[in-house]
Amino acid sequence: MSLKAVVRGCGAYLPERVLTNLELSKTVDTTDEWIRERTGIEERHIAAEGEKTSDLGAAAAKAALEAAGMNASDIDLVVVATTTPDLTFPSTAAIIQAKLGIEQGAAFDLQAVCTGFIYAMSTVEKFLACGQHKRALVIGAETFSRILDWEDRSTCVLFGDGAGALVLEAQDESTANGRGLMGDYLRCDGRMVDLLYVDGGVSSTKTTGHVRMQGNKVFREAVTRISEAMERVAENAKIDVRDIDWFVPHQANARIIQGVVRKLDLRRDQVISTIAGQGNTSAASIPLAYCQGVADGRIKEGDLVLLEAMGGGLTWGAALLRA
Ligand code: ACO
Repeated sequence: MSLKAVVRGCGAYLPERVLTNLELSKTVDTTDEWIRERTGIEERHIAAEGEKTSDLGAAAAKAALEAAGMNASDIDLVVVATTTPDLTFPSTAAIIQAKLGIEQGAAFDLQAVCTGFIYAMSTVEKFLACGQHKRALVIGAETFSRILDWEDRSTCVLFGDGAGALVLEAQDESTANGRGLMGDYLRCDGRMVDLLYVDGGVSSTKTTGHVRMQGNKVFREAVTRISEAMERVAENAKIDVRDIDWFVPHQANARIIQGVVRKLDLRRDQVISTIAGQGNTSAASIPLAYCQGVADGRIKEGDLVLLEAMGGGLTWGAALLRA
């Protein structure tokens, strides 16, 4: 018996507070025009005082369970991709598990910055495929606003808060109708740590630190590495990358996404983009965009969807699934 990890439902949550480019331009030396032209971002959501990553993640997970027609007793694995945990320990996954009333199975966090959701999907697929767990919540949740230097215009304009979640279920390949995760490709090159990092941490400064990025250097790496990962995943699944129905990219920069679309000869109308209204929500951006595609009726059961991300590490990767 061969088991596939099939998406049964998805959910999203965005904090109420919206921060526009115009508002930002009153506190840092930037303009709405610069941010739109260089990134495609118009506004982003910011978590309220006291609203934690686990609150965002639990809200998205609840919506995903509802969409899947499941409840807490159906889930035996919770994996949270996040760079902004509530606490250094225990994991945000453990906190979310309790908030959802899940009393069985395992829960842990996974850290691969903006590539976290791809790493989490890949990890969970292995847990489900080997039969160890049956149904998983894969959550990307971030309060990146808490690790931004709000005086650094080169980073604070880019990020936002939010959470997205998918319910993945192990199903026998013979009855899955070709649905499920079809493959993934994960990479990391730790020699590029200095391009994108946080200047603090438990064992170094005993502080949380702030995001530091050599944005133009990351930008230069992005299109080539992301495209290569997408081509590799498609090739392994024996499909042409242009045969996909939907491209759900990590929402770091509209220019990176357009560069990948051009390089791989995809169509612009295949892209699910949320960047204008959400900015870069790190590990949450892929499930948020996926949910957007499902909610507005673009992504339908049986569609071929290609996901990709690049983030601190540098880490990058891609995943292919049949919805
Ligand atoms: N407003 C106005 N001017 C600005 C701003 C701003 N918000 N930010 C930077 N500038 C200025 C710079 O100071 C610089 O000025 P100078 O020429 O006088 O020195 C000029 O704009 C150009 O700066 P660049 O950094 O070269 O601008 P670029 O076109 O590369 O855009 C950006 C910057 C948007 C950050 C881009 O490089 C980018 O998107 N990089 C990739 C980000 C990414 O993919 N990150 C990975 C995921 S995030 C994660 O893992 C946590």
